[in-house]
Formats: sequence, structure tokens, C-alpha cells
Amino acid sequence: MWNDGWIVIAGASRGIGRAVAHRLSCDDVRVVLSARDEKALEEVAALYPPERQRTIPWDFSVPESLEEYAKLVAEKAGPVSGMVYCAGKQKTLPVNLSKPAVARDIFDLNTFSAIELVRVLSKKNLLHAGGASYILLSSLSAHEGALGKALYAASKAALEGFIPAAAAELAQKRIRLNALVLGVVRTDMSLEFMDKMTAEQRTLMEAGYPLGLGAPGDVASFIRYLLSDESRWITGQPFVLDGGRSVRGV
Ligand SMILES: NC(=O)c1ccc[n+]([C@@H]2O[C@H](COP(=O)([O-])OP(=O)(O)OC[C@H]3O[C@@H](n4cnc5c(N)ncnc54)[C@H](OP(=O)(O)O)[C@@H]3O)[C@@H](O)[C@H]2O)c1
Repeated sequence: MWNDGWIVIAGASRGIGRAVAHRLSCDDVRVVLSARDEKALEEVAALYPPERQRTIPWDFSVPESLEEYAKLVAEKAGPVSGMVYCAGKQKTLPVNLSKPAVARDIFDLNTFSAIELVRVLSKKNLLHAGGASYILLSSLSAHEGALGKALYAASKAALEGFIPAAAAELAQKRIRLNALVLGVVRTDMSLEFMDKMTAEQRTLMEAGYPLGLGAPGDVASFIRYLLSDESRWITGQPFVLDGGRSVRGV
């Protein structure tokens, strides 16, 4: 169910991206592992035989740099058949502090670089002849109100807005493009904001998840499916993975 193309994992050093790298290491796939923390990337790469992995340390906060990144992928790896964009940041701040520079900072990493990576990897010289599958990660925050999450939510909602029209266009190149809309998954990112909660707030939040909070592996399994040929007829969709939060009884 896999071809010989390379799968780019942006944000592979920790959290969900690292779990994807773990999950794929049991398959016969080739991966490009990227994030800023080189040491962590080398640890993840050690899961793979040398011929099935490349590490390309990169800071995805500058969308304009991604043409250069794509050149490196072509040089160090080869044709790309999959990409999952797990790089991202979550910032909690009220609307009255959401100045344009702060908004740009969040959108650059969460939104514009994700879109730019889709663009640069879809060029003829880099795209695998069999097509590709790309996955972007959104958040339930884009659909339900939470204090201090407006900018983060907006950066994710923009990704979801991008998906249908872009997927229609990219299907002509046999590229599939889907999004995951995630509830809270236990990673460094979520632990950072949960650590600031009172015990009462935390209990209340956890009670909102009928199946409990997510583990990175729960998400990685679904990403593996979307990357593989088993999902070859699926594109343009936002898939909600939230442990039942959005359908819970009240
Ligand atoms: N965890 C959740 O509850 C949750 C819920 C909804 C949506 N999401 C989304 O899922 C995605 C993954 O989240 P996560 O929970 O796995 O986060 P995480 O544990 O904080 O991991 C984030 C990953 O992104 C990389 N990264 C961050 N800034 C980067 C930059 N400037 N350049 C390159 N890489 C960068 C980090 O590596 P380095 O620090 O080494 O660069 C790390 O590998 C994010 O888009 C997040 O918004 C998460």
C-alpha cells in the first residue's frame, strides 16, 4: 500500500509528528524528518534504517524559506508522495493584545507555511509520479469558543477554508489534501496550557471528552491511513478526531 516516494513530516521532533514517525517506522516507507531540534530529529531517525530516512532541520516560521527547503528535499531525498504538517504553535492571549505582528507570527507558522509547503511540494519536479497525500492539522478551537484562543483558532480555520478548493485543484495532479480537526491531545503543546489550569478547570475539561483526552498515537494511526493508498479515494475533507467531545450529551 506504499510506493517508493518520500513522506515529509514537518514537526517530527515531538508530539503528533514524532508519533507519526514512530507509526510509519513499522511500514516500508521513506521519511524526511524536519523541525528545529536537530538532536531530537536524530533520535527519531534512529528508528529507521539509514536508506529510509533523511533529517532536514528547518525553521518553518518563515514561509518564504520553503522554496529553499523543497530544493533540499529534492537533493537529499527525492520525489514526495506524502506530507503531514505538524509544526505549529498555540498562543493564549486576549483579543485586545492580538496586534498585527502577533497575528502574523502565528499565521506564518500555523497557516502560511502549511499552505506554502503544499505549494512547493506539488511542483512537477518533486511530486511522485503516483501522486501524493497531504494532511494539515486544524483544531476544535476553530469551531468552539475558548477564552484567549481567537488568533490560534483563526489560523486553523483558515487552513480548513483552504482545503476544499485546493483539494479540487490538486486532484488534477493526483494529490489528495485533507485536514484533521483535533480535540485535546496530550503533547507538550497541550500540557503547556493545561499546566496553567486549576485542578477544577482541568477536571471540567477532561469531563468534556467522553473517551478521554487523545494520545499522539491515536492521531498518528489515522494519519498513517490518510497517507497510505488505502485512503486513495478520499480528499478535501476535515476529519474530526476528538474523543467524542463534539457529540457529547449535555
Ligand atoms: N496537542 C493538541 O491538543 C492539539 C490540538 C489541536 C491541534 N493541534 C495541532 O497539531 C499540530 C501538532 O501539535 P503537537 O501537539 O504535536 O505540538 P508539539 O508537541 O508542540 O509539537 C510541535 C512540533 O512542531 C515543531 N515546531 C514548532 N515550531 C516550529 C518551527 N518554527 N519550525 C519547525 N518546527 C516547529 C516542534 O519541533 P521543534 O520545537 O523541534 O521545532 C514539534 O516537533 C499543531 O499544528 C497543533 O496546532 C494539536
